[in-house]
Amino acid sequence: MDVKGLVLSGGAGTRLRPITHTRAKQLVPVAGKPVLFYGLEAMAEAGIREVGIIIGDTGDEIRAAVGDGSQFGLEVTFIPQDAPRGLAHAVLTAEEFIGDSAFCMYLGDNLLRDGVASFVDKFREGSADAMILLQHVPNPSEYGVAELEDGKVKLLVEKPKEPKSDLALVGVYLFTTPIFAAAKALEPSWRGEYEITDAIQGLVDGGHSVEPHIVTGWWKDTGQLVDMLEANRLVLDAIDTDIQGEVIDSKLEGRVIIQAGATVERCHIRGPVVICAGATVRDAYIGPYSAISEDAHVERAEIEHAILLERSSIIGIETRIEDSLIGADCVITHSDAIRSANRLLVGDGSRIELL
Ligand code: G1P
Repeated sequence: MDVKGLVLSGGAGTRLRPITHTRAKQLVPVAGKPVLFYGLEAMAEAGIREVGIIIGDTGDEIRAAVGDGSQFGLEVTFIPQDAPRGLAHAVLTAEEFIGDSAFCMYLGDNLLRDGVASFVDKFREGSADAMILLQHVPNPSEYGVAELEDGKVKLLVEKPKEPKSDLALVGVYLFTTPIFAAAKALEPSWRGEYEITDAIQGLVDGGHSVEPHIVTGWWKDTGQLVDMLEANRLVLDAIDTDIQGEVIDSKLEGRVIIQAGATVERCHIRGPVVICAGATVRDAYIGPYSAISEDAHVERAEIEHAILLERSSIIGIETRIEDSLIGADCVITHSDAIRSANRLLVGDGSRIELL
């Protein structure tokens, strides 16, 4: 069976502001690599070649990062969506691209430890009209929720106030052509979106076979800061040491990646940590679960469980910075001008906790 890929990479990323004022949420790096790239790699690994990427306002940035897809072994087609009107609307936007193929839809801000190859294989071998992936979660009302009966999908509700189960819909779906008719029959939901959850319910109601599959390896929807840091932690947990950059008079513990072109001098690095190309880290402590992006700079500071994006610098800070996501081109530095005051120049939607 021919299976195409459909990766959703529009959306405003409101829950990740202010980072998403200036970049697509799917391009925020997790362990030094944009979230979206993990999804594209998962597609390639599942033997999918033709992938459509739905893009919105941040389309130019996504196009520039992904190129023609050959870096992933994929043939990528970009499909602009006029407005973020929901996942089912995105599916309809891609109808011409999909044609009569089966397809694997992947939400571009989702990360699955084990990728999608086993689900795609199972779908190829079987005869279901659709397959949904589910995972037990502690907070089901933040997701689409599935109620099963005798192992079959009975009811799907998007972000229910009183969830009937703890099974959340993971942002990866396998569909065949009946999904288009189900999506066309929808009315917008209470949040004004055409919900894929409702379209799948339409499939169930119309007698189509929708196979549920419970995902056991970890899964993260990186829509919010805590999830982003958690995803960073989970990915870093599985890295292997690889030192390509320059390390001078430093103590490295645990698993550490230092990419070529990075410099680490008089530091204590306690992994898992990734330090990307062009970054310089001097007289600093970098603690577990930290990712220092390209050309960032840390000097006389301590960082732990944090993501520091491109070209930002943290210089001369006495208190440790932790549980933080710091955007690109930021400067965080010590001021001794007025000892009893903080001086801030902070963008809209930022969140800063001062001690
Ligand atoms: C979307 C889906 C939801 C699903 C979630 C997974 O939610 O609507 O059913 O559980 O992705 O990441 P959204 O990110 O649009 O809030």
